Amino acid sequence: MQCSWKAVILLALASIAIQYTAIRTFTTRPFQICPVPNTLNCGMGQDAEPFDRICDDFPYFTYNVSKKTHILILATTRSGSSFVGQLFNQHSEVFYLFEPLYHVQTTLIPRFSHSRNAADRRVMIGASRDLLRSLYNCDLYFLESYMKPQPVNHTTDKLFRRGASKALCSPPVCDAFSPSEANIEEGECIRRCASLNLTLATESCRERRHVAIKTVRVPEVGDLRALVEDPRLNLKVIQLVRDPRGIMASRMETFRDTYRLWRIWRATGRKPYNLDLTQLTTVCDDFHGSVSTAMSRPTWLRGRYMLVRYEDLARNPLQKTKEIYEYLGVPMDKNVVDWIQNNTRGSNDVLSKHKYGTVRDSAANAESWRLKLSHDIVDYTQTVCQHILQELGYKAVSSAEELKNMSLTLIEDKTFVPFL
Ligand SMILES: *[C@@H]1O[C@H](CO)[C@@H](O)[C@H](O)[C@H]1NC(C)=O
Ligand SMILES: *[C@@H]1O[C@H](CO)[C@@H](O)[C@H](O)[C@H]1NC(C)=O
Ligand SMILES: *[C@@H]1O[C@H](CO)[C@@H](O)[C@H](O)[C@H]1NC(C)=O
Ligand SMILES: *[C@@H]1O[C@H](CO)[C@@H](O)[C@H](O)[C@H]1NC(C)=O
Ligand SMILES: *[C@@H]1O[C@H](CO)[C@@H](O)[C@H](O)[C@H]1NC(C)=O
Repeated sequence: MQCSWKAVILLALASIAIQYTAIRTFTTRPFQICPVPNTLNCGMGQDAEPFDRICDDFPYFTYNVSKKTHILILATTRSGSSFVGQLFNQHSEVFYLFEPLYHVQTTLIPRFSHSRNAADRRVMIGASRDLLRSLYNCDLYFLESYMKPQPVNHTTDKLFRRGASKALCSPPVCDAFSPSEANIEEGECIRRCASLNLTLATESCRERRHVAIKTVRVPEVGDLRALVEDPRLNLKVIQLVRDPRGIMASRMETFRDTYRLWRIWRATGRKPYNLDLTQLTTVCDDFHGSVSTAMSRPTWLRGRYMLVRYEDLARNPLQKTKEIYEYLGVPMDKNVVDWIQNNTRGSNDVLSKHKYGTVRDSAANAESWRLKLSHDIVDYTQTVCQHILQELGYKAVSSAEELKNMSLTLIEDKTFVPFL
């Protein structure tokens, strides 16, 4: 009996390792190790040698040979990442994917969706980096090894939130909508487009100038170092942060079961003894990890990192979006401007009630958590997350009156210049 718990842990670790190895082995093919797997560096001097045969079937030169940008939105659940994702999804030259790492997580760690176990975490991060690298190179078949059931003939209807990606709901992938239908609703895309043909999705990805991926499944920017340093990629990270008090309030509304004990605390004023604190500390620790890495200004991150506060985006969406595009060096297009104008005013639209909706009365929403949380919970959060609140410029409140007095803002003006 004595050694049983150790045995269980060892077994669990072994099984994860075996699963991971198995997945890597069954992967349809290794990464493209072509000298020029994307348009990066094409005709830009150093690497412009003739292509290997294996790369010949990709018609790179039929497209504009300027540098392809690989955009990663690094976020956490309920920090406004769907909103930021839309800023790229709407761009006509961007191929956007919504949470592809969902598939890695459900395959590798099916039972513990928010595992903090160090071994699980390493496995997740390693597999996630491999998948991201492939997706940025428009190798969408790589996703198949993480899908259940595994796609046949490169066709699937199991891609997570396929409808959240405009590119996957429009030609050449799907012909169900006319070009005049600018706003394709997610469910409508699923209903009207046939199963997703990953070969066509790959084509669509290659035709577009840039690739953007949003994820809440990478803990901190340091986990991305291998990708940032990969010379075959041109990765630019946009880290989205939000006041942890706002994140908690939003999660309590959205994930009622998972945050049940927090809700009980809020309703009764008594903190349940078995409250899962990691639901809060993980947010603050991950933010702190990223911010510390970024503040130490390592050379590998130069020109590749921008910190964006959700609240700044909510207060001034158009201006902030312009800054983001400037940092990326990608021209913004009219669709993005239109989308922002259409979606950041009122909150009466039905979409604002959707669980993962992006349409909100953004500015008013940024501090509405103050009316939803008790001073007790706020006080506790401020203690646990003290450092990160200071680093990100969120003021602590010292009383319930201050908390509810909305004429005092808790958001300090703070400029986070991109690290150039
Ligand atoms: C390539 O892009 C540049 C700038 O975006 C543009 O001026 C040029 O006409 C484009 N070339 C082709 C062949 O599309
Ligand atoms: C896959 O493609 C092959 C050859 O075109 C075909 O015979 C088979 O029926 C297809 N499988 C499915 C499930 O569509
Ligand atoms: C997917 O699209 C490709 C390219 O057009 C086509 O050759 C293939 O037959 C399609 N697959 C299925 C299952 O329809
Ligand atoms: C914005 O709203 C107008 C008017 O409702 C609509 O015609 C247009 O397609 C919308 N554009 C976007 C990008 O949402
Ligand atoms: C709310 O804060 C403002 C600005 O500091 C102050 O003038 C006002 O008296 C406060 N209201 C209440 C009810 O405390």
